[in-house]
Formats: sequence, C-alpha cells, structure tokens
Amino acid sequence: MSKIILVTGGAGYIGSHTVLQLLLGGYKAVVVDNLDNSSDVSIKRVKELAREYVNNLSFHQVDLRDRPAIEKIFAQTKFEAVIHFAGLKAVGESVSEPLLYHDNNVIGTVILLEVMSAHGCKNLIFSSSATVYGWPKEVPCTEEFPLTAVNPYGRTKCHLIISDMVGQLFVEEICRDLHNSDSKWKIILLRYFNPVGAHPSGHIGEDPRGTPNNLMPFVQQVAVGRRSALTVFGNDYSTKDGTGVRDYIHVVDLADGHIAALRKLSDPKIGCEVYNLGTGKGTSVLEMVSAFEKASGKKIPLKIVGRRPGDAEVVYASTKKAETELKWKAKYGIEEICRDQWNWASKNPYGYGSSHSK
Ligand code: NAD
Ligand code: WQD
Repeated sequence: MSKIILVTGGAGYIGSHTVLQLLLGGYKAVVVDNLDNSSDVSIKRVKELAREYVNNLSFHQVDLRDRPAIEKIFAQTKFEAVIHFAGLKAVGESVSEPLLYHDNNVIGTVILLEVMSAHGCKNLIFSSSATVYGWPKEVPCTEEFPLTAVNPYGRTKCHLIISDMVGQLFVEEICRDLHNSDSKWKIILLRYFNPVGAHPSGHIGEDPRGTPNNLMPFVQQVAVGRRSALTVFGNDYSTKDGTGVRDYIHVVDLADGHIAALRKLSDPKIGCEVYNLGTGKGTSVLEMVSAFEKASGKKIPLKIVGRRPGDAEVVYASTKKAETELKWKAKYGIEEICRDQWNWASKNPYGYGSSHSK
C-alpha cells in the first residue's frame, strides 16, 4: 500500500516539484494550498507529468488557518507524514506586514500541528531556510551555527529573542519544543539554500507574483523581454568579482532531498533534526548571469546599484550532515540549473498565465 503524504503549499514552486517526485517515487500525495501565491495550473501540470500515477494526487484549495477544513481532511485520510511548505516568503513584505506573516506562517503552523496531534500523525518535514544563518561569520554554514534571522520572514523560520518578543515561539523552536514534550514527534527541519531552476520538462517552474525578489526569476524575466535589465545589488563585496555569493540548488535536487528526509523519518532514532539542503558550492551573481547567458543565448543587461539592505556577502552550505545521514547529495550544477530555468522560461514566458503554454 502506498504511503499517503499531506503536502501543504504543494501548488507552489518547491511544493509542486516535490509532489511530482513523491508520485514518481510511489507515494500518494494530498495537497492543501490556498493558492495565495500559486495557481492550480501547477497541479494540472504535475498530474500530466505523473502519467500513470495521476490518480495518486488530490488537491484541496484550503487555507491552513481554516481549522475545520483541515480537521475534515485529517478525518478522511490517515497520513504517514506531512511536508509543510505553506507560508509567505517575501522578505520585504514581511517587514511591512509583520502581523500577516506571523499570522500566516506561525498561526497556520500551530493549527496544522494541533490537528496532526489530534489525529495521531506526528511525522513532519518543515521548510526552513538558510536565512536563519543571517550574515554568517564563516562559511560553509553548518547546522550548529547560531541563528540570527534579520527580518520577520526569517524569524518565522527560527527563533530570535528581542526585547519585546521574549518568549515568543517561532516555528523551528515550536518544533523542538513539541518533540521535547512528546518523543513520538519525529521532525525534520530542512534549511534550504537558494532554490532555483525548474523541472527538466519545462512544464513546472517558479512563477512569482509581481516583481521578483530573487535573482533567477528576475534574470529569467529579463531574458524573455519582460524587464529591461537586471539590477545587481552591490559589486563591492570581498568576493571573487565583488558580487554576492550564494549556494544555488536545483529545485529537483531539493525535491529529492524531501524524499530522503521522508525515508529518514522511519529511523527509530530520529527526534527533531536539522539538515542543510545545498550544494556546498558558492556562485557569484555575475557567474550566475554568465551561465544563464550561455544557456539561453540571451544577453542580460546589467545595472549595478548599491547593496541591498540586509544582504549577506557569502552564504553556502556545509552538506556533510545531509550526505552522511540522509544519504542525499545534489546532482546538478549551475549549467543544468540555467538550462532548465531557460527551458521553463522560454516555454512559459508569463509563467502559468502564459497564453500559449499548455
Ligand atoms: P511558494 O510561494 O511558491 O509556495 C508556498 C505555497 O504555500 C503557495 O502555493 C501558497 O499559495 C501557499 N500558502 C501560503 N500560505 C498558505 C496558507 N495559509 N494556507 C495554505 N496555503 C498557503 O514558495 P516556495 O518557494 O515553494 O517555498 C515553499 C516553502 O519553502 C515556504 O515555506 C518558504 O518560506 C520556504 N523556503 C523557500 C525558499 C525559496 O527561496 N523559494 C528558501 C527557503 C525556504
Ligand atoms: C541572491 C543574490 C542578491 C536579486 C532570499 C531569502 C532566502 C530565500 C531565498 C526564501 C544576492 C543578488 C538578487 C536581484 C541581485 N527565500 N540579487 N539582484 O537573498 O540569498 O535569499 O531568497 O524563502 O530566505 O533571504 O536570494 O535570490 O534574493 O539573492 O543582485 O534582483 O543575488 O544581492 O547576492 P537571497 P536572492
């Protein structure tokens, strides 16, 4: 019998790729998403790509904070585990709308955990972020580094005690507390570095609403003619070419990391564990642009401006723990990332809203 996994936020960028890998890996998936930052076209595309496994996917357009609706879904199905992607993630908006972020990301998670507990489902994988490392003092970042989230988005991914927030619990910390209170909870916190790229088919990919906050969706929109130039935030860092360095991980590798984490949940020794999901390699903004130009044959005009507030200089992962304990390692490099990003962009220049896309 296939194991059934509840995937919150499964219509989104990372969620849709993970749902596909789950289905192809023989799991059944039930997706809960309010479509606030996504489209149900992604679910239709995943079904097309899943072929013979198409009937192993079901979708509920539901907000996590709608407790009765979440209760109903748990009453109907016994889930092996929950992979929890649902959350808002725009750093700038988290500063201007902190209550929205805490309500959606923290309260939504608490409701989910309460319903899981009531139904005896105590296996969880949570999407955390390398943003919790802030500006690391050294690289590569290991899972033991101190957590120094610098904005409300980051704080909903970890804990930070500041004067007027003493005692407030945030999601990573909530998970640790939960496991300490009841060792039946098995929780894996996955800290993603910079997810990029798209499924090699070009049928699913990232489709941000409004102006993209992140590098690669912006580059992609310049390449298809939706924007005139990439604004490069600072070329005066102490890096190889002066631009910021990050650990870009192919979204399919990231999705596979979730399957590895699911397998790890059945290890009787697992409690509440943190793993970095990255490649361990640092790439600068200019190196990323040049790799994308090569893959796409498009010139990306650049406009160099000052540093973006809050940006770290160099962030990349130590991958040792995930490799040793999850037996998972990223397979793709920036060439494949740019190839697949361009394949998605050229087939869907306006994302899921592209008139000529399938
Ligand atoms: P995404 O916005 O594409 O996907 C998140 C999905 O969650 C969306 O489909 C959205 O509609 C849904 N959602 C949001 N709030 C909801 C709610 N209250 N109820 C139901 N559905 C809700 O984002 P993504 O890039 O796929 O990220 C997935 C998760 O990974 C997020 O939690 C994000 O914070 C985390 N993360 C992302 C990155 C990144 O760079 N993309 C890096 C680190 C961590
Ligand atoms: C990468 C590099 C920028 C845009 C953020 C969040 C993190 C995670 C991923 C998740 C940096 C430079 C960017 C642009 C640029 N989010 N850049 N021009 O900042 O590492 O991480 O997104 O949910 O939590 O903090 O990613 O893609 O924004 O930036 O020059 O238009 O590209 O300065 O050096 P970041 P990013």
